Amino acid sequence: MAHLLAPSLLAADFGNLQRDVEFVNSSDADWFHIDVMDGVFVPNISFGMPVIKAIAEHAKKPLDVHLMIVDPDRYLQAFKDLGADVLTVHIEACTHLHRTLNAIRDLDMKAGVALNPHTPVQILKDVLQEIDLVCLMSVNPGFGGQKFIEKTYDKVRELRSMADEAGVELLIEIDGGVTTENASALLEAGADVLVAGSSVFRAADPAAAATAIKNA
Ligand code: DX5
Ligand code: ZN
Repeated sequence: MAHLLAPSLLAADFGNLQRDVEFVNSSDADWFHIDVMDGVFVPNISFGMPVIKAIAEHAKKPLDVHLMIVDPDRYLQAFKDLGADVLTVHIEACTHLHRTLNAIRDLDMKAGVALNPHTPVQILKDVLQEIDLVCLMSVNPGFGGQKFIEKTYDKVRELRSMADEAGVELLIEIDGGVTTENASALLEAGADVLVAGSSVFRAADPAAAATAIKNA
């Protein structure tokens, strides 16, 4: 499968949100990556339901929603109603991950689980069958524009071989510090979906940056 590019709207210009959504629509990107932060799970607050509703009204590509919130179970239905196609929860925020993943699938969304940089991929061993996407955080979540953590390459390789051994087809997504420079090495390691915020929206030529990462 060709890899996917999911620009993170966290790096968009919120004063020109419709313009930036239209930009993703017409770019080589595949998904919209939407970062929801609650100021509790992470030390930052991003945006909530009314903003996502506005994004969804203009978006013509799947919505990949990354929840950096405590107790995400309370909002699964709400994100379905907003139009989420992929819904990712943090393992560090889920006491009953197996139940949460199944609840997401029961709502006809792809079930994603995100792992902080300190969380070993082995923790997923007994729930691999329940997962459609694993988001490996390659920065500590909470902010865009941070430096990529190199250890991520080992985690991608380890997770890919775990999934292969278990005969499970899941997407491996990399989130944080992805650039035109490290994209191809990440793909070589086994990544399927690259999230890119600053390296697309803050590029001198965002369309060219999206194309470069998509063709990496
Ligand atoms: C970080 C978010 C990321 C962020 C990536 O907590 O989950 O999606 O927007 O931004 P860049 O690509 O700038 O590191
Ligand atoms: Zn994210």
